[in-house]
Amino acid sequence: MAADDDFHHQDDRSDRDDVLRLLRTGTAAEHEAVERTLDLLDARLDRDRLTSALTLMHGFWIAAEQGLDDWAAGCPDDAAAVDWSRRRRAELFAADLRALDADRMAGTPRLPAIPGTDEALGRLYVLEGSTLGGAFIDRHLATLPALSGVRIRAFSPYGAETGAMWAAFRRTTRAHVTAGGDIDRIVSAARDTFRALALWCAPAARPEQVRA
Ligand code: HEM
Repeated sequence: MAADDDFHHQDDRSDRDDVLRLLRTGTAAEHEAVERTLDLLDARLDRDRLTSALTLMHGFWIAAEQGLDDWAAGCPDDAAAVDWSRRRRAELFAADLRALDADRMAGTPRLPAIPGTDEALGRLYVLEGSTLGGAFIDRHLATLPALSGVRIRAFSPYGAETGAMWAAFRRTTRAHVTAGGDIDRIVSAARDTFRALALWCAPAARPEQVRA
């Protein structure tokens, strides 16, 4: 199919202005801040700290998805193109918290509105990319005796489909840019989303990290 060939061609290119490359480099510092704050690959990770991280992430996802739902209501075709309904995840965080016998809410952050598809794809980049690191986190959690018997789903919601879901997100984002989407707006929205997440998660940092 011609359209598919086009997509493959674009997937293979390594242009310096490729939107996915700019998203990765443009948010690398923010990703590192979140990773350091949550510190989920820590060998000493215990139930309490995992619960605090999931509680914060749950609140964040509720707010992030609310903005995307508002966007999807106004731009249903773009929302369908990126398979938005399949990418919602707040409910999985809630289920994981129930599995940990922790049902309290942390509240939700106030996030910028999502006025259009550029901003929606920037925000989705952050939410969807987290499933890549999520696979590593899942594997780590499985090695922790403190968490034996608890099955956490929200970090890698797609299981064996993780690669396919990410590839589809990348294709849709590149197609949107080819059709006239604004790369700067996409990358700024991703950075805003990541920064808001880092701030929101700051309370989850271990005390020695806060002092450092
Ligand atoms: C302690 C927590 C985290 C760890 C250890 C981690 C680790 C990683 C790793 C190893 C990758 C690369 C995976 C690959 O290329 O196959 C990755 C990608 C990514 N992660 Fe995280 N991550 C964490 C948390 C998060 C969170 C909470 C978010 C956002 C909500 C996030 C967003 C992303 C994004 C957007 C990418 C894709 C980068 C790209 O464009 O290639 N990560 N993460």
